Amino acid sequence: MNAPGRGVFVTGTDTGVGKTLVACTLARSLRERGLRVGVMKPVETGVGDAGPLDALALREAAGVDDPLERICPARFAQPSAPPVAARAEGRDVDLQAIRQAFTELRQRHEYLIVEGAGGLLVRVAGEVSMADLAQEFELPLLVVARGALGTFNHTHLTLEAARTRELPVAGVVVSQVDGALSSADADNLGALRESLGARWLGEIPPLEPGARPQPGCIDLASLLGR
Ligand SMILES: Nc1ncnc2c1ncn2[C@@H]1O[C@H](COP(=O)(O)OP(=O)(O)OP(=O)(O)O)[C@@H](O)[C@H]1O
Ligand SMILES: [Mg+2]
Repeated sequence: MNAPGRGVFVTGTDTGVGKTLVACTLARSLRERGLRVGVMKPVETGVGDAGPLDALALREAAGVDDPLERICPARFAQPSAPPVAARAEGRDVDLQAIRQAFTELRQRHEYLIVEGAGGLLVRVAGEVSMADLAQEFELPLLVVARGALGTFNHTHLTLEAARTRELPVAGVVVSQVDGALSSADADNLGALRESLGARWLGEIPPLEPGARPQPGCIDLASLLGR
């Protein structure tokens, strides 16, 4: 499969909704299809002694040897929004380093999966948001949402923010981070699915710690077709 210059910007309706899990699942699935997949986490906060855990998970899933500094050029200890975490260290987020790393990764890989931090309007640096970064990278959004009550509103708010900025949306994947759904939640999720039509790309059921989703959770044919 040859798909030069393609990829997605994985954003979420919130922090902790399953972006990394979905991005890793996507990376593995595309690798299995023979695609040379690259990954990037432009900025990661909450980085401790074990390093940037999202970037490490993404690198492992994609099976790439790109240096961590390129996959994740901006790393900060405080678990807060990037400019806030940077300020806590008396630093700024180096946007030029992020742009340079992206350019290099895009040249090396057929398909690039970029995971944002938090949701779409979280700032990367100054007034520049994740939405601005996705626009600059010319990558369609893959929106990850949780399964529980509230997700209809959060998902459509995110899609509306994308529409306002004329950002293309590749689709939505729901990850059931909060465990098994009540029947009311399941009904709500059904309503979300219906409202999304072809933008619904799949659902990851509640997983045991450390378990990997089944291949096929994400509708790759639809994703790659857009
Ligand atoms: N379907 C699921 N079943 C069980 N646990 C899940 C599921 N999806 C995600 N999780 C867990 O929920 C937590 C948050 O997921 P993840 O790290 O992928 O979210 P994120 O959106 O990338 O968060 P961040 O904003 O910190 O980058 C992780 O511990 C992950 O393993
Ligand atoms: Mg993550």
